Amino acid sequence: MFDIAVFVSGGGTNLQAIIDQIADHRLCGVHIACVVASQDRCFALQRARSAGIPTHVVKRSSFTEPASFDQALLNILRPYQVQLVVLAGYLTLLGPDFLAAYKGRVINIHPSLIPAFSGTGFYGIKPHEAALAWGVRLIGATVHLVDTAYDHGPIILQKAVPVLADDTAQTLQQRVMQDAEQVILPQAIALFAQGRIKQEGRIVRILNEI
Ligand code: GRF
Repeated sequence: MFDIAVFVSGGGTNLQAIIDQIADHRLCGVHIACVVASQDRCFALQRARSAGIPTHVVKRSSFTEPASFDQALLNILRPYQVQLVVLAGYLTLLGPDFLAAYKGRVINIHPSLIPAFSGTGFYGIKPHEAALAWGVRLIGATVHLVDTAYDHGPIILQKAVPVLADDTAQTLQQRVMQDAEQVILPQAIALFAQGRIKQEGRIVRILNEI
């Protein structure tokens, strides 16, 4: 079984998509070992508990040093056989110690086609507001490997969705979440579970791509 940890901060719609796809056997051989939240008042924790998944809360504000925050996260994951850490709406930067311990095994979902509308400050509804302001015709989502900067690591998968004439930032966010994020995040997890991801510097190769 391919064990994953899912890190959350908000509503947990991406976590729910993973839970649902495992439950209806669209995502096979994957097990959510635990969910780690950055705050104790997020609905993602309710979703995890409803699914019987062990939950933990680790608040960055509880630690003065990045290294002690990293160590707390590593201590929590240690009893689990986690092979992949999935950031699903997680809004806290991970430090170098954590990323070194899980080198090449931390992925994030971002609600834009990186490098557009990404990086510091582009979270939640903000990428969609920026997309509308620019008048782009396509937006989408990106799954990427995580490094020490926001939305900066090598890209694994992307999926585009159209911007429609009557879109608001809210309708765009819904379409991106449903038709892009919740499609490519489980797909990326499956590729890791199948051992089909090979990183070559900034480029990620998907092995045996059909
Ligand atoms: C999603 O758009 C995600 O990409 C972004 O935050 C939004 C909410 O994520 N990081 P979730 O509902 O908490 O999974």
